[in-house]
Amino acid sequence: MASVLFVCLGNICRSPTAEGVFRQVHERESLLQELIIDSAGTGGWHVGKAPDPRAQEAALKRGIDISGQRSRQIQASDFVRFEHVLAMDENNLEELRRLCPSSEHGKLRLFLDFAPGLTTRSVPDPYYGGADGFDTVLDLVRKASEGLYQVLSG
Ligand code: 4NP
Repeated sequence: MASVLFVCLGNICRSPTAEGVFRQVHERESLLQELIIDSAGTGGWHVGKAPDPRAQEAALKRGIDISGQRSRQIQASDFVRFEHVLAMDENNLEELRRLCPSSEHGKLRLFLDFAPGLTTRSVPDPYYGGADGFDTVLDLVRKASEGLYQVLSG
């Protein structure tokens, strides 16, 4: 069974958005029978919290409701349970490499590696910026979600 875990720092902005967008692509395409989709943060500051209101609002404008998600911190079992563990930026990837047992390192990638042709490899952290940062996140994760879905279903 295919399984994907999206990872950022706080699990309240980028990875919940990626989870929501990827779920929407899956619901639209419906090419995979079974697919586990989840997200987590490398840090634990926001555990139990709903996504940032700005992330919720930006996603909702595109018809994606992420309000039901709750932040959680990545745990050791995630590296066994998930087939793909996808980092939003280079710092997240570095942290994942530190936490992940070496036997599972092949599962770690940058999410934007699934969106060839972009000039950036990282989804910029929108937390300290303005609302347009959240639209940028949505644009980038949309492209990568479509690329990833093609790989998984192809
Ligand atoms: P995320 O954004 O990693 O995309 O969820 C952030 C959320 C919170 C913080 C940083 C980034 N923070 O420093 O609290």
